[in-house]
Amino acid sequence: MWNSAIVAYFHYLGFMLAFAALIVELFNLKPDITLEQAKKVAFADIVYGLAAVTILGTGVLRVLYFGKGTAYYMHNPFFLGKMAVFIIVSLLSLYPTITFILWFKDLQKGEAPVLEVSKINILSGMIKGELLSFTILPLLAAIMARISG
Ligand code: HEM
Repeated sequence: MWNSAIVAYFHYLGFMLAFAALIVELFNLKPDITLEQAKKVAFADIVYGLAAVTILGTGVLRVLYFGKGTAYYMHNPFFLGKMAVFIIVSLLSLYPTITFILWFKDLQKGEAPVLEVSKINILSGMIKGELLSFTILPLLAAIMARISG
């Protein structure tokens, strides 16, 4: 029971951290981004990556060992919907993550990256899409845990 509670806790903690990291990214992405802001965004994206791995790892553990049994989830449309949304979030995060990784050379030299407005709009749009998906995921989770479909 303790193991199950701890795994569930890290599942929720991962979700909260991922959401918080995306908010930090969104609020710091500006045309005249400073070195400090760019570092915050890059750091937030590392936190986001670790949080996503935690969510996935604890989710798999819950499916395999601490939930209602693998068969329950594999035939549950809300679980499958949740996985589909999670994949969409992961795909949406690719472009921002690659962009922030490419900043590292500039950041190490102590230079802020140059950001065009069009690029900021694309990055912000993707992050907003991720945030929206993150608000849908707990709803699907709550339904899947109660309704087998
Ligand atoms: C950002 C992504 C995710 C969020 C926000 C999320 C959120 C949640 C929430 C809020 C619950 C509790 C549901 C309840 O008891 O009312 C839950 C449970 C669960 N999640 Fe996730 N989850 C995510 C990703 C995943 C992934 C990727 C997996 C599987 C690989 C997964 C598998 C599970 C399982 C098995 C449960 C237990 C359901 C039960 O009690 O029967 N989750 N999740």
